[in-house]
Amino acid sequence: MSSADKLRVGVLVSGRGSNLQAIIDATEAGKLDAAVVVVISDVADAYALERARRHGIPPVFVDPKASGSREAFDERLISILTEHQVELLCLAGYMRVLTPGFIHRFRNRIMNIHPALLPSFPGLHVQRKGLQHGVKFSGCTVHFADEGVDTGPIIIQAVVPVFDDETEETLAARILKYEHQIYPRAIQLYAEQRLYIEGRHVFCKGSEDDRAVREGWGYIHP
Ligand code: GRF
Repeated sequence: MSSADKLRVGVLVSGRGSNLQAIIDATEAGKLDAAVVVVISDVADAYALERARRHGIPPVFVDPKASGSREAFDERLISILTEHQVELLCLAGYMRVLTPGFIHRFRNRIMNIHPALLPSFPGLHVQRKGLQHGVKFSGCTVHFADEGVDTGPIIIQAVVPVFDDETEETLAARILKYEHQIYPRAIQLYAEQRLYIEGRHVFCKGSEDDRAVREGWGYIHP
């Protein structure tokens, strides 16, 4: 596939960018029919920007303080994404809530990764909340973004067992490994134009092997 045919992906980040790295690595390994064309951060010294730089991807910092309102900030994002002809936007550790106007503009073209099995434990500090609740399984979710916080239609989830001696850190680290697998996978399904949405449900066209794939994503241990 020539680079002209590749899905143009923009990534919004606020921090270390390990999911961004997994996406870039998958594109460079030829596992994704996609190219990351711009990385935008609302945090000036986010390490994710450095990762972008190292791979020759334009890193863009947009200063929330300089924009005034949330709407003005999001308008700035839209103009950068439009300038780079972004077709799919991936949120990867992006810590701001997008405005309804932004969601409307990119409806069904924004993905997010969340380190829990949604709809359980949306928002922040999810490992702590899960451990306090005593869950036996956690995991991660890739979903389309809508106007809510971590509420949009679910594309892929991976299930990760929670052990008795688990800490927030050990659980987050094990879940992160699965995040790095399912995010590129979801992007590839989108690039292949196999995802379609009916209400809250995301279906994958042509997945005769759907059961096998799905069961493959559930890393369930007795
Ligand atoms: C990940 O756990 C992701 O699920 C959550 O924020 C974290 C970002 O990590 N939304 P990184 O910046 O991709 O390393």
